[in-house]
Amino acid sequence: MAEVIWGLATSHVPSIGAAMDRGKTEDPYWKPLFDGYRPAREWMAEHRPDVAVIVYNDHANAVGLEMVPTFAIGTADSYRVADEGFGRRAVPDVVGHPELSLHLVEQLVDEGFDLTVCQELDVDHGLTVPLSIFCPEPGDAWPCAVVPVLVNVIQYPQPTAARCYALGQAIGRAIAGFPDDLKVAVFGTGGMSHQLAGSRAGYINPTFDHMYLEAIQADPEKLAALTREEYIDQAGSEGIELIMWLVMRGAMNPEITKVHSTYHVPASNTAAALALFDNRVPRPA
Ligand code: DHB
Ligand code: FE
Repeated sequence: MAEVIWGLATSHVPSIGAAMDRGKTEDPYWKPLFDGYRPAREWMAEHRPDVAVIVYNDHANAVGLEMVPTFAIGTADSYRVADEGFGRRAVPDVVGHPELSLHLVEQLVDEGFDLTVCQELDVDHGLTVPLSIFCPEPGDAWPCAVVPVLVNVIQYPQPTAARCYALGQAIGRAIAGFPDDLKVAVFGTGGMSHQLAGSRAGYINPTFDHMYLEAIQADPEKLAALTREEYIDQAGSEGIELIMWLVMRGAMNPEITKVHSTYHVPASNTAAALALFDNRVPRPA
């Protein structure tokens, strides 16, 4: 049986990937951010999954604005790293897990989540930067296969936070029903507060972010009850990416253990955070 072993919530700011690709992680601007990742990276390296289900959004790179699926899933054998205008990042292409993807498609459609199926998909910074945060030096290949799950957070009307949480719960049930013994990690990507354009460009809300970091572990229902307008008002127009953390949280057990979290402002225009949770049931003392 497949099992979700851990969940990772992390920002996906493209310049975090660029800093790694260009050897700038020790620069004074970047060092505090990368120092904050270290304990989580060590723990994840010791708890390697077979597959990562990465919940992310494409930023009109692979999927243009003429077609915006609310929820989609990749079912391919492999996914190319997208060219976002500066050439492809020099990181490995992503190996898929078509069997788990197709199992998720069937189970989720049967549960009423009518996902768009992507048999071919380039993956942009929304997916590759979280992979780099997980595994800074992949060499020729990432350490696990990937199932990409896409959420529309860029064009109105984005799915509700409640729907994202329910999708995560359905993903959790589907993973538990996959017959092979697979260790699965679930990534919820994006956030925290940020707004890239308009009169509130540069907006950061640490009070909201800290509330969210606490509640994603202890009270996800509270976050699932917020409207999209509340997300945009409180976290900025791109801060609504945080609804993707709820997909990750929904796929995990009601009780989870925090391994490590870190919060750093700014990374580019974003309040960057990482929160890593162990999904294994704690043993009684
Ligand atoms: C930035 C953040 C994002 O989430 C993104 O998708 C693109 C850019 C930024 O802060 O620069
Ligand atoms: Fe983004």
